[in-house]
Amino acid sequence: MKHIPVLLDKVLETLGDIKNRTVVDCTFGAGGYSRAFLERGANVIAFDRDTNVVADAEQLKQEYGDKFTFINKPFSEIKELNSDDFDDVVFDLGISSMQIDNGERGFSFRFDGPLDMRMNANSGKSAKDLIETLSEKELADILYEYGDIKKSYMIANILKKNLPQTTFQLRDLIKNPKDVAPVFQALRIAVNDEMGQIKSALISVKDMLKKDGRCVCVTFHSIEDRIVKNTFRQWSQPIGDPRLPTLTSSEYEMLKVFTPDDAELENNQRARSAHLRAVKKL
Ligand SMILES: C[S@@+](CC[C@H](N)C(=O)[O-])C[C@H]1O[C@@H](n2cnc3c(N)ncnc32)[C@H](O)[C@@H]1O
Repeated sequence: MKHIPVLLDKVLETLGDIKNRTVVDCTFGAGGYSRAFLERGANVIAFDRDTNVVADAEQLKQEYGDKFTFINKPFSEIKELNSDDFDDVVFDLGISSMQIDNGERGFSFRFDGPLDMRMNANSGKSAKDLIETLSEKELADILYEYGDIKKSYMIANILKKNLPQTTFQLRDLIKNPKDVAPVFQALRIAVNDEMGQIKSALISVKDMLKKDGRCVCVTFHSIEDRIVKNTFRQWSQPIGDPRLPTLTSSEYEMLKVFTPDDAELENNQRARSAHLRAVKKL
């Protein structure tokens, strides 16, 4: 199924008038956001680490020419751009419907396939490799931290003893059905270093945004959301001596937080846990 963009109206509302601005779409996916930005007269630089999206990106390139640039790399590479290259940055984190619904990619316990889970299927360790190479303790820590799984040690022990090769083998090794989705999620986050990616990209963005530039993040997971929330809070802290209020000022302003409304949730189950957070450089 084609990916339905989540919270797109709110992303556009948060960005405001983007005509002739350059927006970095850090997570191209099916190009839903990029297309909407281009339609509103923006230039777009889009990142995605998945090689499967290149055809969709080429399609937009044909339609919009120089106004659209696609970079088939992880968005932590935003550090290679210059401040003058862009005005606003948008992240729509996690995986797309195309990734989760393709059994061959190994993201879903609903389809049988190789236990892969790499967003870029040509680089890094798959979930199968990770289970094979990590120690039981390292594996348990990942399950606990990214899946909030209480019996993480027990599950890590079973995985290390059985070394699942496919999604269904992994699913069938997990005794409590309630743990299945969290185990898959935890492994996916670790395989793709998702928390490391967002932390590193935000560090670069903070130094690069110009006055009035916005950074907008749509998150789908509580740890990811906490990272974004705490980072934006920190950026918006007043700087200067708090005893001298006239000398304190903030570098960033926090903007309104949005979650999907009932109409969007009815239309798109995948919007369920989404939060939009944003800041503006002052
Ligand atoms: C939720 S989808 C984005 C959907 C997109 N906004 C749309 O409207 O079609 C997330 C996409 O971001 C990509 N992605 C996730 N983390 C990434 C990273 N660190 N670097 C580059 N791409 C990443 C995934 O490969 C996936 O295609």
